[in-house]
Amino acid sequence: MALTDRQILDRDDPNDVDAIMELAQFNDDVDSVIHTVTDNADAIFTWNYDKGERARLDRLYEKAKTSQWNATTDLDWSIEVDPYSALELQRELLLNGDMVEDPTSPVASWGDAEWREFGVESLRWRLSQFMHGEQGALLCTAKIVETVPWIDAKYYAATQVVDEARHVEVFARYVDEKLGGGYPINPHLRLLLDDIINDSRWDMTYLGMQIMVEGLALAAFGFMHEFTEEPLLKKLLRYVMSDEARHVAFGVLSLQEVYAEMTGPEIRERQEFAFEAAVRMRDRFLQQEVWEHFGVDTREMVVRLLNAPEEAKVFQRMLFSKIVPNCRKLGLLDAGDGWLRQKFTEIGVIEFEHMPDTGAEFIDYDIEEGTIDQRDLHAEVGAG
Ligand SMILES: [Fe+2]
Ligand SMILES: [Fe+2]
Repeated sequence: MALTDRQILDRDDPNDVDAIMELAQFNDDVDSVIHTVTDNADAIFTWNYDKGERARLDRLYEKAKTSQWNATTDLDWSIEVDPYSALELQRELLLNGDMVEDPTSPVASWGDAEWREFGVESLRWRLSQFMHGEQGALLCTAKIVETVPWIDAKYYAATQVVDEARHVEVFARYVDEKLGGGYPINPHLRLLLDDIINDSRWDMTYLGMQIMVEGLALAAFGFMHEFTEEPLLKKLLRYVMSDEARHVAFGVLSLQEVYAEMTGPEIRERQEFAFEAAVRMRDRFLQQEVWEHFGVDTREMVVRLLNAPEEAKVFQRMLFSKIVPNCRKLGLLDAGDGWLRQKFTEIGVIEFEHMPDTGAEFIDYDIEEGTIDQRDLHAEVGAG
């Protein structure tokens, strides 16, 4: 049974600002140290121990075992971080015309000093959200170890659990030691992570986490890695990216097999879930909490950000540069009546469909063998 936008998103229009704002207010447990989510899935044993039956997953597992790094010793935590030096990214992205030059904009009066402060705060917020997202990945991957019925996938997912623990560790340490502490989880992100963990179908964990959340993270890390000059953050991101590329590949390789066996209505549910995740992630990048921090009219900023011209939304659009080609590779864009293609067109991200997918791209991201440092990600995005 096909669902409406209201059933998927709890609102009729993905750009309904009041609904977006209302959800942003709903952060009921910011003061609580724990957050509990019901995990409805069955834990699955398999008695088929034939390692390598799924050769591509086995190759990924072998690669993961030799690609481990140690967050404590491989990064130089003695580096003194100047938060301002990490921020060329912000100035590049946010000093766009409509936001600054329009005299009615809430930030029209901001000068260099305000934008610099905004840059630091925005980085603190962004890295905090990545830290929370990494914990989501840690929980989701532990869940995949339990729920996936294939031994090669259980083996691989077990290595990803270690990777994600390391990612939570590095972001938590960077935010705490170098930026003076983090932000609580954004409500849109929390809703998405809750939905992924809540779902009883094991392939949905992969779609929500490996394809959508990690696909977005891989693109965002790549962009930040290219733009930051802060040496600790740059190296940290480079290491994390080498892991994330494997994680996304794990999702693509596993779901290709699963989707090949699915019926039309089952695929439609996956398309709907992909769309829901895309909108939740777009909403979180409106970074309402940061505007609130500066006492700016947050609703007005959200309206302006949602309605900004496409060329001013480089960062927001670029976040989908891994997700859309991977959805295409999985057949989700055009399955059925091409519903997801239409939805991705509506939210302005379909242009990325022909970017490289991540099925085998993890080799490019490898620390030893990779070519990613030689590539100009910004040029790729501009060309997109
Ligand atoms: Fe991660
Ligand atoms: Fe990951």
